[in-house]
Amino acid sequence: MRGCRSLIAIVFCIALGVTAIGAFAGGLQDDTNASAAGPPVPPAPAPVRQPDGSVADLDAKLVVCDPDAPPVSGSGVTSIFEPESPPSREIRELGFLVFAICIGIFVVVQGFLVLAIVRGIRSRRAARDEGVSAEPTQVYGSVPIEVAWTVIPAIIVFVLTMVTIRTIRDIDITSPPEDAVEVIAIGHQWWWEFRYPDEAGEVVTANEMHVPAGRPIWLRLESADVIHSFWVPRLAGKMDLVPGHTNYTWFEAERAGIYLGQCAEYCGTQHAHMLIRVYADEPEVFDAWLDDQRKPAVEDPAVAEGRRVFAEYACLNCHTVDGTSDGMFGPNLTHLASRDTIGSGFIPLDRANLRAWIDDPAQLKIGCNMPSLKLDAAELDAVTDYLLTLN
Ligand code: CUA
Repeated sequence: MRGCRSLIAIVFCIALGVTAIGAFAGGLQDDTNASAAGPPVPPAPAPVRQPDGSVADLDAKLVVCDPDAPPVSGSGVTSIFEPESPPSREIRELGFLVFAICIGIFVVVQGFLVLAIVRGIRSRRAARDEGVSAEPTQVYGSVPIEVAWTVIPAIIVFVLTMVTIRTIRDIDITSPPEDAVEVIAIGHQWWWEFRYPDEAGEVVTANEMHVPAGRPIWLRLESADVIHSFWVPRLAGKMDLVPGHTNYTWFEAERAGIYLGQCAEYCGTQHAHMLIRVYADEPEVFDAWLDDQRKPAVEDPAVAEGRRVFAEYACLNCHTVDGTSDGMFGPNLTHLASRDTIGSGFIPLDRANLRAWIDDPAQLKIGCNMPSLKLDAAELDAVTDYLLTLN
């Protein structure tokens, strides 16, 4: 009976250990995927109310961003296990080291536990067969054991401390790396503003950050409202954007491609849809992009009506379009049509999505700070067409 109970205890311990390892590994994976990959499986979107009062089926027009879908090329992987930048690489290596040491400790501790249980079972059986007491020899104090279980953990903690300090020293630098490109990232509820300080004229864009591949990026982080956190798992660790305080971080995309990220600090209703897209371009592509972004907004006479609507309604209070408006509250729209997405990386930019968004943003992103201006169908069409010329 006792043997049976001990056996159950062993099985329980092993199961507990396996569950703990599984939960840890799974937790890491879930965390990266769920919070960083954005909306892999979008919930059924709410229906969009049309200007005439009818309700259209949003499924037909709204396609939530699938990172692998055309026209956006590049990898949608957001795993911390596939770094493409020195800081994220070091973080992964440190993570593996800590995990390996923890596994080692787990195996040793569980090994001793199992050994003790097995030996206990055997000695009890032997004692029962011989008809003597099963009470084991009592040991009080042992200098070698005391020394061992003090010194070994101290060495482990020391090693972990030194390796962690080295990693932090490499990642958390206080001045820009050599030849770095400086970008200012400003967190807003719930979108990202990116500014490129430049003598030839500051470039301002939103949600889609272009950087040259193979060059360090020195990122200045600020917030316009609450605390956000910049996290692109394959490029660097998290760094908070704190109101009234400037933080810095850096990364270097080793290969051209799209790196997805996400605000990693709960900042309100649409925190989960505050997505980041980093486009690491070949250097000449990046320079061309920067040149394009410096150009003034396109003034196409064919969409003069749309520009009039934009300027007559409240749009211009919040959005800048160079030469037309200078609102600062929402994303700069001077080159809106050069982007792949709207709604902070949440929705691909196409005519139907943009029109639905202008009609009533809250239908797509509940709690969104941009109001519905109750435009009629003709005004909606005009302003949508106007915005789509701003490339
Ligand atoms: Cu911004 Cu969460």
